[in-house]
Amino acid sequence: QGQGAAPGGAPVDANTILLGQVGSLTGGQATFGISTRNGIELALKEANAAGGVKGKKLSIRVYDNQSKPEEAAQAATRLITQDKVALILGDVASSNSLAMAEKAQAAGVPMITPSSTNPTVTDKGDYIFRVCFIDPFQGFVMAKFARENLKLNTVAVLQDNKSAYSIGLADVFTRKFTEMGGKVTAVESYSQGDTDYRAQLTAIRKSQPEGIYVPGYYSEVGIIARQAREVGLKVPLMGGDGWDSEKLFELGGSAIEGSYFSNHYSPDNPDPRVQKFIADYKAAYGAVPDALAALGYDSARVAVDALERAKDLSGPSVRDAIAQTKDFPGVAGTVTLDAQRNAVKSAVVLKVEDGKTQYVTTINP
Ligand code: PHE
Repeated sequence: QGQGAAPGGAPVDANTILLGQVGSLTGGQATFGISTRNGIELALKEANAAGGVKGKKLSIRVYDNQSKPEEAAQAATRLITQDKVALILGDVASSNSLAMAEKAQAAGVPMITPSSTNPTVTDKGDYIFRVCFIDPFQGFVMAKFARENLKLNTVAVLQDNKSAYSIGLADVFTRKFTEMGGKVTAVESYSQGDTDYRAQLTAIRKSQPEGIYVPGYYSEVGIIARQAREVGLKVPLMGGDGWDSEKLFELGGSAIEGSYFSNHYSPDNPDPRVQKFIADYKAAYGAVPDALAALGYDSARVAVDALERAKDLSGPSVRDAIAQTKDFPGVAGTVTLDAQRNAVKSAVVLKVEDGKTQYVTTINP
């Protein structure tokens, strides 16, 4: 089961290699799935134009998980048992990827998450990979930036208790910021989908922090920013990659201006390879690619490279080829997979300014 030797699914023939994607195309994290799908599609289009893989064309089946872990698990199962894909790309939100990884690992179908940063995702087993850094690093990045660049002594934390990503990142940040001599004045929490954060923000205000760390997703963070200003909190907000969406600026308006978040990539990167990707993406989708699009693109290119190198298209062979990925030039940094199947990369810190992001600095592992 799920060896992927002969790609299945009705419209796919012997000259096609079928891949699968599970993404949040609707729901609270919709921009994550849509950007990722666009990035993947662009990479596969380029790969097919360059002759495909092992003389075959690449095709992808995409399922929506509605931003829900249960749906993500079901979609992964469908890709494995019904479509018999050679490999799965996705998801973005770590809680969704955790649910998918369980299924992919059990079936022996390789899975590459472009952008899930919670460390436990790749712990699910030797078929599970990622092309991004992990949260023990990302939490360190913002703690260091808060202490050394913003010179903050006290910070409060507001975490999403429904997200493995948010809980993990809040923990690392708290530990690192404290180790660096800072003090965490309050830790408050909410549940994804909540709309009223005033009670938590009022408790935070009473603890008088010089900044607030909000490692959540854009749909909640935008509203949190507005309500923080409403309850009289004027200090800077800080967050992680989950902030990365055009929608953040729409939801947060002027309340999110002057905030900072860590991310995988900055469109300001002058590297010609990155600028070419941005130009191609803009031509295809009419927007500047966000980090999700960049990592989606990189994940598909890493997959294509591994499929080409694999001795055949069986699960174990493709897994072994992915594991050997080394010095692969991505648009969101160079990908070398370590023994835990994670990429070790630097992070950027971005500032929200005039309704878009402004590159501030790069922090290395
Ligand atoms: N890292 C987030 C998670 O693991 C997902 C994410 C990545 C969101 C990049 C935005 C940008 O849940």
